[in-house]
Amino acid sequence: MNLVLETAKDNLQSMGFLDIHVDPSLDLIEEINKLKKEKNAIVLAHYYQESEIQDVADYIGDSLGLAQKAESTDADIIVFAGVHFMAETAKMLNPDKKVVLPDLKAGCSLSDSCPAPIFSKFKEKYPDHVVVSYINCTAELKTLTDICCTSSNAEAVVNSIPKDKGIIFAPDKNLGAWLIKKTGRDMILWNGSCMVHEIFSNEKITKLMTRHPEAKFIAHPECEDHILAKADFIGSTSQLLKYTKENEANTFIVATEPGIIYQMEKASPDKTFIPAPPTTNCACNECPHMKRNTLEKLYLSLKYELPEIILEPRVIEQGKKCIDTMMEISREAGFKM
Ligand code: 13P
Ligand code: SF4
Repeated sequence: MNLVLETAKDNLQSMGFLDIHVDPSLDLIEEINKLKKEKNAIVLAHYYQESEIQDVADYIGDSLGLAQKAESTDADIIVFAGVHFMAETAKMLNPDKKVVLPDLKAGCSLSDSCPAPIFSKFKEKYPDHVVVSYINCTAELKTLTDICCTSSNAEAVVNSIPKDKGIIFAPDKNLGAWLIKKTGRDMILWNGSCMVHEIFSNEKITKLMTRHPEAKFIAHPECEDHILAKADFIGSTSQLLKYTKENEANTFIVATEPGIIYQMEKASPDKTFIPAPPTTNCACNECPHMKRNTLEKLYLSLKYELPEIILEPRVIEQGKKCIDTMMEISREAGFKM
């Protein structure tokens, strides 16, 4: 391929318009490992990524672990195998490093459900309230936020706010409703949700639980209330993984994106993991945004250092404060990677 054509394709790919053809005989794992060394790059992957991406990652984690790893890395380039808001968070924590996302269109329905200009108007109605935003939101929304949280540390974040202060929680109404129950705090909830965690079928889960009475049913707090009410354990992806390692049960019905099951099976090869079924007959419990990243795109993003996450200095400066506060609360509460 000549250079001009290659560059043009890069630019198109960086805008998410084109998949560049990669020689199918290329050993992508070997190439990625070579490029990582040459460029002092690190690959960070969320648990919802394809197993082959998890295998090539330097660190696999949940949203909190990934932010902590991004904060502590001395790599020059961060390849973020996750979704856009995660890569933005890594960029805010590392304004001087290059952060690339294998597919710039890897978004998030939860993040999309809370546009910053509309939230800004909503926030004006509650001038004395503290704004807590789930990390699954845009960098622009973070500029309107006092404290960020993830599903791992959300309870600790809410509990850190003085009892006489009102709280707005955005954008996930399901995580928010669960936090109200856990903390006893009355919070104003933004009406957003995750398309993946709202697809689980109550009826099919009941059938599975009847067929496997010995199984533990575990769920992510982004699930709806009627699903969480059935759960033996509720937690973030890393907390669910830890539970399956430590609990003596042999079978687990897992209500979150099934990418996490790869690490569960690796950690406990003798245990059985059943993905909680969606209401439809398709694989709608897989996150279509997370799954936009492929090994080929990861290889190309590392090779060409594209598509890069670029943020305005104003957004970095204002948006980073709520992440720093969250990191501080997490350190004090003893959350480790
Ligand atoms: P955690 O990584 O905090 O478990 O959240 C899951 C998720 O939906 C990420 O998009
Ligand atoms: Fe967003 Fe849900 Fe996908 Fe997570 S699983 S990236 S919250 S759409």
